[in-house]
Amino acid sequence: MSHADDHSDATRRDFLYYATAGAGVVTTGAVVWPLVNQMNPSADVQALASIDVDVSGIEPGTQLTVKWLGKPVFIRRRTEEEIEAARSVDLSDLPDTGAENNNLGPEASAADENRTLDENGEWLVMIGVCTHLGCVPLGDAGEFGGWFCPCHGSHYDTAGRIRKGPAPLNMLVPVAQFTSDDVIKLG
Ligand code: FES
Repeated sequence: MSHADDHSDATRRDFLYYATAGAGVVTTGAVVWPLVNQMNPSADVQALASIDVDVSGIEPGTQLTVKWLGKPVFIRRRTEEEIEAARSVDLSDLPDTGAENNNLGPEASAADENRTLDENGEWLVMIGVCTHLGCVPLGDAGEFGGWFCPCHGSHYDTAGRIRKGPAPLNMLVPVAQFTSDDVIKLG
């Protein structure tokens, strides 16, 4: 895996998340993002409408980035502190309070409870693309302890909601669900 040394800090950082989560945690169809830069995924991988991701190796406070439908997807297992931080936010402080940026229907707000996969709020799955101009934000970064997009300085909180900077919307929450204790299905 020495190829990771050749990448930018951002990529190396994401690679470390993967390494922390443990080798082999991604199952059929998923391609770990840093590798994609070198491997050029085949058309059949890109075309998969849904993939299963084994998340059993992800520790609290770390995330796995997989590629799905041509985009990076962040799968983060949040700590108690991250959950608390996200849930204590007054929604009126959010630049994007609406529901158009998740898959929960027009009545759902950007409340943390509406963005996480499980009731406890431990699992957060998002399309890892900055809503400004499409860069991939860095995890564990920024003024709100969530993600930071270094391209033009957008700060996202621990629920992936935009809090500061030019990005107009929260990071997108895709269709995802647990299909077993250890497997999240995207799509
Ligand atoms: S693309 Fe992220 S801040 Fe511009």
